[in-house]
This record gives sequence, structure tokens and C-alpha cells, in this order.
Amino acid sequence: MAWWNLFNARSSEADRPDFSAAPIDLGKQLVFDVHSHLVPGVDDGAEALDDSLAMIERLVKLGYAGAVITPHIHSDIYPNSERSLRPAFEHLRKAAAARWPQFHLHLAAEYFLDDHFAECIAADDLLWFPATDEEGRKVKCVLFEFGFHEPPMNHDQVIFDLQMAGYTGVLAHAERYPYWHRQPDQIRSLSDRGVWITVNAASLGGAYGPEMCRVAGQLLEKGVAKMVCSDAHGLRHMDSLAALAKSPLVQQWSTTHAVLSRGIRSEH
Ligand SMILES: [Fe+2]
Repeated sequence: MAWWNLFNARSSEADRPDFSAAPIDLGKQLVFDVHSHLVPGVDDGAEALDDSLAMIERLVKLGYAGAVITPHIHSDIYPNSERSLRPAFEHLRKAAAARWPQFHLHLAAEYFLDDHFAECIAADDLLWFPATDEEGRKVKCVLFEFGFHEPPMNHDQVIFDLQMAGYTGVLAHAERYPYWHRQPDQIRSLSDRGVWITVNAASLGGAYGPEMCRVAGQLLEKGVAKMVCSDAHGLRHMDSLAALAKSPLVQQWSTTHAVLSRGIRSEH
């Protein structure tokens, strides 16, 4: 049976979060957290510097080496750009470095896939992060998301243009698009075309309901997911991340599949 048929079948243990395993050092396994909203005051994430530092402290205690911080860039709601984000990020980076000098912070973004994203690609004006692919090649990654309510339009062309511009696309929280829950071949198709698939820790913990939990679990079980991310907007998301240290599913995935958050490079 093809994996996407298995994906549709219920009865997987991934339907219910299981946190019964002996804990592992999660940060040592995943190394970088690659999706979070920790730049204070620029989107719906951290509101103040102290909020940001409290979340970073949680990552440090979990043993992470660093984090790629990804503020929303959405032309209608969060019209951010590198110019608007960089000063607030640098302020945070200096404050974090004073406390945890070994912990790396990198500024990227979570782009909403719309006309503005297409314009940023055309202008080669993108916030990206440096990573290493499964063949050991250095790549430039760009995190993007779709809307939650309607399937994306024209995304194949935009993703193709992104790749032609020399970037690897990274899809945020692939389990959070309900219109594809019964069409997982859509996610598989993106993965087959070189898009890195990520899932959110909170989804694996059931915070968004059983369907998101099921789909996220299946993406890990089948090795389609390349990264598990906090997508932290607040400490509740760091709690979800920390809980994964006892997840048999995450432990199995992290020892049998490529975990591409291990290949994030701190230099730019
Ligand atoms: Fe996000």
C-alpha cells in the first residue's frame, strides 16, 4: 500500500499523543529550532524583549544550539521586511548573547505565499537561513506558509520560481492545512519536488485537535517531515516542544530519518 493510502487510514498510534518514553535531550537531537516568532513587537509573537528571552531560555535549557527566528511577512497583516525587522532582531540578539553567548540566533522569515512573496522572489529580496541538505550540500532556505482556509493558488509556479532563484523552500506546519488532510499526495508532491516539510510541536501534542495530530504524526512516521519546529509565539509553544522529549514517535523519527534542523549553519 502506498504511504498516502496509509496516511488516510485511521487507527495509527499517532491519533493520540503518546508521551510515555524516557526523556531524551531534545535539543541535542534537533539542534536548531527553525520556526519561531521571537522578535519582539513585530507580529503576533513575543510582545516584549523579556518574553523573547524567556522563550530563548527554554530552548537553551532543552539543549538547543540555536534558533532561526521567523517573523511573519504578510503584505496585508504584517508588512515586514528585512529593513523593518533587522534592528529589533539585533537588539534581541545582543541581549541573548549577553546571557547565552554560545546560543546562535539567525533572522529569517515566514512568508505568506501571495503576490508579495512572488515580488520578493523576483527582486531577490528574501530573508533566508543557511542549511545543509541530505547530500551534504549547502543550501539557502526560505520558510513559507499557505492560508489555513483555502488551498493556495499558483503555488506551483511560485515555488518553482523560488527554486530557480537558488533557494530551497521550507513549508511551515504542513499538517495545518485542512483542505489537504484527505489529499496528502499534495504534501508528498511538494516534498518530491524538493520542498522541505515541517510540522509543529504543538500539533504533535494535540493542541490543534486530533486531525492535526494525526496528520503531523503520519508525516513523521513516513519520514516526509524534515523538521519539527516550535512555531513559538509564547511559552505555551515551548511547553509543547519540551513535551516531545518523551514522545516515542519523535524519538523514532529522529533516529531513523533525516532531521535537517541538524544542518543549520550559524554563519551567513
Ligand atoms: Fe509561524
